[in-house]
Amino acid sequence: MMQMPDRVEPPNPPLRDGPIAVRPFRPDDVDAVVAACQDPEIQRWIPLIPIPYTDADARRYVMMTLQAWHDGTSAEFAIVDATTDLLLGSIGLHLGPNPRRYAIGYWVAPAARRRGVAVRAVRLVSRWGFERLHMQRLSLWTLPGNVASQAVAEAAGFRFEGLARNWETDRDDQPIDAVVFGLTPEDLAEASQTGRDAGSSGEAGRRGADGPSAVATIAAVPRELHAAGTRAAPFVDLAAVAALRPGTMTRVTLADLDLLVVWTPDGILVTDDRCPHMSAPLSVGGLAGNVVACPLHEGQFNLCTGETVQMPTTGGLDADGRYHSPWSPTGALPKSEPPSKKLDARRLTRVNRLRYYPARIRDGRLEAQLPILPE
Ligand code: FES
Repeated sequence: MMQMPDRVEPPNPPLRDGPIAVRPFRPDDVDAVVAACQDPEIQRWIPLIPIPYTDADARRYVMMTLQAWHDGTSAEFAIVDATTDLLLGSIGLHLGPNPRRYAIGYWVAPAARRRGVAVRAVRLVSRWGFERLHMQRLSLWTLPGNVASQAVAEAAGFRFEGLARNWETDRDDQPIDAVVFGLTPEDLAEASQTGRDAGSSGEAGRRGADGPSAVATIAAVPRELHAAGTRAAPFVDLAAVAALRPGTMTRVTLADLDLLVVWTPDGILVTDDRCPHMSAPLSVGGLAGNVVACPLHEGQFNLCTGETVQMPTTGGLDADGRYHSPWSPTGALPKSEPPSKKLDARRLTRVNRLRYYPARIRDGRLEAQLPILPE
């Protein structure tokens, strides 16, 4: 069986695609690493990053990446501007015990986002890993709410594979879930053929995470699921389309209406930012393709059909009034409970289909038909 290499040599010359290149870190990258890692989004989605993040942390990080090359445990690259060599981000292949257990991780500095940097870097490094390190599979684990990272993965050809419960721990050492994506050589080849690949231009396609060439369209949603009061309602301005990104969810609040604007692979749609189970905000849940995962009770919903994909752990009534028993993510039988009003409430809570606000794009703005809002 092929084992992890004793030592990994960085590609020479460095890999590059259009405006970016990837190369090993250098000590003079430390200041840029410190600056980037002050970003709350990087700190939010990468629990390993210390808070506060200091010069010493960055120096340790740069030294760790160089040591990892030497030890053959990891191939860690700085993502840099191909012209100026300034640091744009970081990307690493973590080499597992065999070529089916490699994983990728990345971050991009705030100033370098929305230019396709991450997608280009993921493709470059993935290809190099398949060709030079004989990888057979590449995994990505990301936190369920980190939809920007997930959109980068999908744009690069990765496929959503599921939710790994208690995969990680947060800064308080509490277990947290992770969303798992996988990439095989076939996925990468298919992405190249279907236009998800950047090719020589490196631009992200419609599903891209930060590609300026993404084309905004409105998703077709079932007419019968239009929200009450929207049929003859006026269109109301919600957001600039340029502020939205493929593969992300955005909460828009107007008066007492909390809306969820989602850019799915089928297009943009507008629904309520309320779980159809017990009203938790879906915007802080996870998005994988067309499916949103509620942050409470494990409920999952198909955003384009409005249907429940996975009932909440509490059980209850589905949209058609059929009863579903409680269930446990561990597979263990839920504890039996004595009769109580709480138990009755859970049993009789109906998980309805999602409701939609008809939307359109006019002059670069997203508009939706909303019921008349209170002054
Ligand atoms: S509130 Fe969303 S699954 Fe319970």
